[in-house]
Amino acid sequence: MRDVTIGIIGCGNISAAYLRGAAASRLVRVKSVADLRPEASQARAAEFAVEATSIDRLLADPEIEVVLNLTVPQAHVPVGLDVLSAGKHLYAEKPLGTTVAGGRQLLAKAEAAGLRIGCAPDTFMGGGHQACRRAIDTGLIGTPVAGHAAIQTRGMEHWHPDPTFFFKPGGGPVLDMGPYYVTQLVNMLGPVKSVMAQGSSGYAARVIGSGAKAGQEITVEVPTTVNAILLFESGANITLSHSWDVWAHRRLPFEIYGTEGSLLVPDPNYFGGTPEFTRRNGAWEPLDITAQPFGANNMQHPLTGIALANYRIIGLLDMAAGIALGRPHRASGTLALHVLEVLEAIGLAAVEQRAVMIESRCDRPTPVPQGQDETVLWQ
Ligand SMILES: NC(=O)c1ccc[n+]([C@@H]2O[C@H](COP(=O)([O-])OP(=O)(O)OC[C@H]3O[C@@H](n4cnc5c(N)ncnc54)[C@H](O)[C@@H]3O)[C@@H](O)[C@H]2O)c1
Repeated sequence: MRDVTIGIIGCGNISAAYLRGAAASRLVRVKSVADLRPEASQARAAEFAVEATSIDRLLADPEIEVVLNLTVPQAHVPVGLDVLSAGKHLYAEKPLGTTVAGGRQLLAKAEAAGLRIGCAPDTFMGGGHQACRRAIDTGLIGTPVAGHAAIQTRGMEHWHPDPTFFFKPGGGPVLDMGPYYVTQLVNMLGPVKSVMAQGSSGYAARVIGSGAKAGQEITVEVPTTVNAILLFESGANITLSHSWDVWAHRRLPFEIYGTEGSLLVPDPNYFGGTPEFTRRNGAWEPLDITAQPFGANNMQHPLTGIALANYRIIGLLDMAAGIALGRPHRASGTLALHVLEVLEAIGLAAVEQRAVMIESRCDRPTPVPQGQDETVLWQ
């Protein structure tokens, strides 16, 4: 094992989770951080004892091998192309880009340069989700035939201090939250073949609820309730409901129905949770996730106080190990591009009122080995 030196571009809300994850890992070392707003990079640098620098200097630094792009979705492709032009491997927050065309540009450039692309979410590598993958692979619920994946909340503007991008093209609940659900679906079921969808907006405007911009109004430019049907190549028929127009509900968010039983999948925005399953119509039983790494609770939700497992960065650690060992990494650009094509197709299907066929295919990522910590990635 050796530690890989990384630089971070984008020092907003989510950067703290990555800096905490990096500080806890022996596989990577954050050398420097940069942002369009120097005050943001200086604040994170002071908090985590790393160096604040300019974007140009970070990209020119020969010590930095991998750049973590934590900018807003609309900047993922342009910043990603700059990272690849600088000869660095790229790991990006989700979505890979706001369009499939942009995502394809990134993958083509990386391939031509012999560089890697990794992309969030890496939550599918978490203990709860890998236990679900294992349950499906071992036939616990038979052949998956149907299911549903729902995220229904009141939105983002009440908690995020700078939420405008969520309600503009490139935002919306499908591009923002869809990557978590669709990536875990592809991890469990394989690639998607076609989609159908309907979209609508519950509110014309949103009011920012916290931070320096509290009280400012955002005009909503994207559908904020989207219902879609995903047909997988395996034959599984899954409904996906993503809405930011819901105050309260009593729906279970993520269920897979198989020929021999059913599976409740934990929240794919996090890494742990307790999956449950039934054999045919028997009683629900918990699925033990403790043999998998990255599932134990290690934080409390800042708003609800609920204990959660957050290991954001393990996809990057896996990519760093993959580079060193010459093996593929799991949260890959190919997987992210397939997921992005599905998300874009959902939007297109809703606008054009037709089924949209998915062109790209990807293999399911290799399961994460069982074990207790990040050393399982070093194989
Ligand atoms: N906030 C969360 O809880 C969360 C969770 C998971 C994933 N994400 C994803 O992480 C990404 C960032 O989200 P966030 O919530 O941290 O956003 P944010 O707005 O808080 O931070 C983004 C930062 O990127 C900087 N930036 C924007 N364009 C840039 C550019 N071209 N070059 C350099 N810096 C630039 C901004 O100045 C800002 O500091 C998004 O893709 C989002 O979907 C966020």
